[in-house]
Amino acid sequence: MMVNRNILTLDEFTIQQMRSFPAATGELSSLLRDIGLASKRINVEVNKAGLVDILGDYGTTNVQGEEVKKLDIYANNQLMGVLKHGISCAGIASEELDDIVVFDDEVSNNSKYICMFDPLDGSGNIDVNVSIGTIFSIYRRVSKLGIPCTKEDFLQPGNKQVAAGYVIYGSSTMLVYATKRGVNGFTLDPQIGEFSLSHPDIQCPADGKIYSVNHGNFFQYEQGVKEYITCCQKKTKADGGPYTQRYIGSMVADVHRNLIKGGIFTYPGTTDKPNGKLRLLYECNPFAFIVEMAGGRATDGKQRVMDLQPTELHQRTPFFVGSKNMMDELDAFIKAD
Ligand code: AHG
Repeated sequence: MMVNRNILTLDEFTIQQMRSFPAATGELSSLLRDIGLASKRINVEVNKAGLVDILGDYGTTNVQGEEVKKLDIYANNQLMGVLKHGISCAGIASEELDDIVVFDDEVSNNSKYICMFDPLDGSGNIDVNVSIGTIFSIYRRVSKLGIPCTKEDFLQPGNKQVAAGYVIYGSSTMLVYATKRGVNGFTLDPQIGEFSLSHPDIQCPADGKIYSVNHGNFFQYEQGVKEYITCCQKKTKADGGPYTQRYIGSMVADVHRNLIKGGIFTYPGTTDKPNGKLRLLYECNPFAFIVEMAGGRATDGKQRVMDLQPTELHQRTPFFVGSKNMMDELDAFIKAD
């Protein structure tokens, strides 16, 4: 029975979705609720970041050799904590951790899902009060139920994702998640502390006028990418322009805007870093899934990013994602390269 209400909370929405799918066990709803809870806790700390002595370097470097801020660790621990104590997750992998964490208790070993996340993406923006986000990705494990999960459960191609989403800590806090049934966005109502359905059935416009790229790396990009960027700059009204360049340095914020308004986000390989900067498992696959489920496309410049077979947890890949027709135009430049 459909609940007839003007506003649905995240929990109500996921339960309603579950009820319309008789085979569902409720584990995915429970997992999404756990992620929602962790993100509310992270949101509280993110909002206080300018006030308390939580800013600054933690004094360690993560497994990619990047400096770690205190909030990254807080966010990582919140997500890990709720998922460990929940009833739906057998283990996690995080951008902040060297290896997978297998929960290995009776409930977790019988859980059918594993979760991967980037707990605080865009953390270089914390100090300057610019939007940051959490990205997550959920897979059904391939190992047998009843035993601890294994690394193979995590090294699955993105096309095996069951759900993926992100939380954006911005002018308001939003949680957006996708399943094969669609993409829905929930805005945190701070007065009641609940995510409420605010953006039902998000569709990425097929055309857009925004391109997002780090122009500082322009001369390090391959020829086709340079030509595509130049084409974006030259667009006139007659050929769908003019285009606008927007790049914040928080992929969550950049892709969220492009998903809603139409646009393309790129992080190409450079001569220094041929595989770019972004991580396949924690950043690219979840956004590829979300944008594809909303009608857009995502590639590594050669092929669909979700068809890449991961070989290691922290591998990086060039990444191009966004509105379908813009992606098609980009392809023509890269393929001609
Ligand atoms: P980090 O979490 O280390 O700040 O990285 C953020 C990611 C991504 O969110 C963003 O789009 C990209 O790195 C920005 O990188 P550049 O500064 O190299 O453009």
